[in-house]
This record gives sequence, structure tokens and C-alpha cells, in this order.
Amino acid sequence: MTGKVRPTVHVTRRLTAPVETVLRERFNVLMSSEDAPTTAESLQRALGICDGVLSTVTDQLTAAVLAAYPLRTRIIANYGVGTDNIDLTAARAHHIVVTNTPDVLTECTADLAITLILMTMRRTGEGEREVRGGRWTGWRPNHMMGTMVSGKTLGLVGIGRIARAVARRAYYGFGMNVLCYSPTPRSAEELSRYGATPRETLEEVLAQSDVVSIHCPSTPATRGLINADRLAQMRSGAFLVNTARGDIIDDDALIAALRSGHLAGAGLDVFRGEPHVDPRYLALDNVVLLPHLGSATRETRDAMGFRALENLTAFFDGRPVLDRVG
Ligand code: DGY
Repeated sequence: MTGKVRPTVHVTRRLTAPVETVLRERFNVLMSSEDAPTTAESLQRALGICDGVLSTVTDQLTAAVLAAYPLRTRIIANYGVGTDNIDLTAARAHHIVVTNTPDVLTECTADLAITLILMTMRRTGEGEREVRGGRWTGWRPNHMMGTMVSGKTLGLVGIGRIARAVARRAYYGFGMNVLCYSPTPRSAEELSRYGATPRETLEEVLAQSDVVSIHCPSTPATRGLINADRLAQMRSGAFLVNTARGDIIDDDALIAALRSGHLAGAGLDVFRGEPHVDPRYLALDNVVLLPHLGSATRETRDAMGFRALENLTAFFDGRPVLDRVG
């Protein structure tokens, strides 16, 4: 972009220092130093005066927000793989290109799903609270027994990149039997490379697994997917883990299943209406609650920023963008 007027890019949140440095070299960057959640008004203002917007997964770019007038923005580079915060149909109608940051967060998000599987099944959240609370009375044979992870059956809802990375870890690392369901069929041969075995229905995966991990995007078809009926199909004493999006789970149904003991535990990294967490979860010892940490490592947050930056650079250079989703 040397010699050209630098495009103006609104960056909605503070990013890692290396990413911010390169962003400022390439673009005229507008960024609030406060690092506060964005409002519809601030997003509309940015859409009116900036050539591009680098948004994050918490910025709600709804049809109403995208109806901003005047509208100058031609690209929204979302910092995140999920784009459920953006109305892609409205963006298309306004001729705005939308990109995301796939691949670079796969390994860390898979690590976090495994963390939650281990934490819930081995009761490590409870154990840590006991030690910190000064309530630990010492080693004894019947103390805080969890459930063995190795050799158990893991069910994956969705079999995209992150689910496949979880499958690899579970199968090769923990000797788990890994089942999966995706509405987009994939060949059993391809999935066997990750140690996963496809099932024809979600119901089969739910009924045959000791722990179920959710890896589908949030779409109109998946919102509320894990409802009372589907939870009832899970094995008694099974566990549920969610590193995808909070709204895929019906919270009332999950809380009822945890309270009744039908499910032995749940590990949640994502919530409907984040950062609000349904207070009923806080009262349940068998639930592990994390603040949306899936991709939160220095390495991955740098890589996500550089990926968004590359999408912006390609777009303003007139080259095809790498990660177009809309
Ligand atoms: C994503 O990229 O969609 C994640 O939720 C952010 O960690």
C-alpha cells in the first residue's frame, strides 16, 4: 500500500502489542484507548467514517447496526472464527466483505476443550476450591473421586477443525473412543485419521458417549440444539462441555439435568449473553465455568490479529482476501 492514502480502520478493542504495531504501520487506525465493549452507536459511527472495521466476536453487527447511514465501510475483518455476531445477509446487502480468522485458534481451543473435559470429569475445580477454602482435611481413599477419562467415549457435536483437533488429542492422548456427528457428511476414512468415528445421528452420539463436547457454530439451526429432550438422550452420569457458543445450550434444561443428577457435570467456556453468567450455575459445584478462554494464549491472539490484518491488507491492496465468509 506504499504511496497510497492509507485506509482508515476502526479497531473495536485493544489487540496484542505486535499486532497493533503493524496495524498502525499499514493503516490509519482509530481505536479507543479504553478497551470497553462497543455500543451500537459507536459501531454505526465507525461504519460511517472508516473504510474497514476490525471487529471482535463480542461486537454485535446486526442488520440494524449495518443499516448505518452514511456507510463508508467496505470490509469487516472479524477477529475470531465465529461470525454469529455479524448479520452476514445484511452485510452482503450493503456490499461489505466479511472475513474471519480460522485455523490459527484451532489448537488452543482444542486444548481448552480437553482442559474442560479433564476438569469436569476429575473434579479439579471443586478440588482447587477446597484447598483454597482451607477445607481440605487430607488424603483419604474416598475423597473427591471423579470419573476416569482414559478409555471413555467422547461424543463430538460438529466435526470441523476444532472438533478434529479435539478428536486427535482424545484418541491418541487418552485412548478415548471418539464418536462424532455433523449434518455435513464426511467420509469415515477421513475421520479415522483423527481417531473419530461418525454416527448417522446426533441422538446416537448423545446416547453412546460418556462426555459430549460441542463444536458447531451458532446458527438459527443450532441455537437451543442441546435442549431438554437431547439432554435426556445422554447417558445418566455423563458430562457436557461447551467451547463453541453459549446459545447452543438451553440453560434451563442443562441446569435441571445437573440438579437432578442426570448429568454428572458440565464445563462451560461460553455463555448466552456473555459476560452475564446464569447465577444458577454458580451454585453448582459440578460445573466448571471459564471466561471464554478458548483462544486466549499470547501465540494465538497474535496469530488471530495478524490473520485479520492480512485480510484487511489483501482487501485494500485489491487482492482476494484469504478468509471471506460473506
Ligand atoms: C472465536 O474465534 O469464535 C472464539 O470464540 C474467540 O475465542
